[in-house]
Amino acid sequence: MNPIFDKILHLSKPFLNTRHNDVHTAISTSIAFKLLEEEGGDEDIVIPAIMLHDTGWKRVPPELHLKAFGPGATEPELNRHHEVEGVRIAREILRKIKYDAPKTDQILEIIDGHDSRTTPISLNDMIVKDADKLWRYTRSGFNIDIERFGESPGEGLERLRSNLSGWFFTGTAKQMAAEKLIRRATEKNR
Ligand SMILES: [Fe+2]
Ligand SMILES: [Fe+2]
Repeated sequence: MNPIFDKILHLSKPFLNTRHNDVHTAISTSIAFKLLEEEGGDEDIVIPAIMLHDTGWKRVPPELHLKAFGPGATEPELNRHHEVEGVRIAREILRKIKYDAPKTDQILEIIDGHDSRTTPISLNDMIVKDADKLWRYTRSGFNIDIERFGESPGEGLERLRSNLSGWFFTGTAKQMAAEKLIRRATEKNR
């Protein structure tokens, strides 16, 4: 991995120890590398964006998290708050390591709308959005989500199944999600 990504990862760590965001970010980053291989895109934009995209959750009180995201979310402005704070934190981190300024602007724009903006602005944006959501189809993501949403495994599978066609932008991500869904559905030990 490019050593500058290690620096970004290191500086993001203090902001990721909430909401299982440390494991989410690690898994979504490795998915982003796979999507970059298959779909193209610029890793100098995509990798910092995915590493930093959820740092803003650190500034949303944990007791409000379940009002902000997931099937029972009632306060979407709290979700917006994690994007805005994430942009602030990412800007500080990227400035600290003197990351390329035009690239920083693109990274911040992606973070700013990673949940709230439904139409992607670039291929890089699509890859970040897809890597973020593909996590929900991984074994860790699935088990964490059904527990925090109070779902049965069957309900969790149904949530993933019903969103399969709407959540993803790249062909590679759609295919990966479908494959992971089959694996989740046939898993014996959760
Ligand atoms: Fe997010
Ligand atoms: Fe995320």
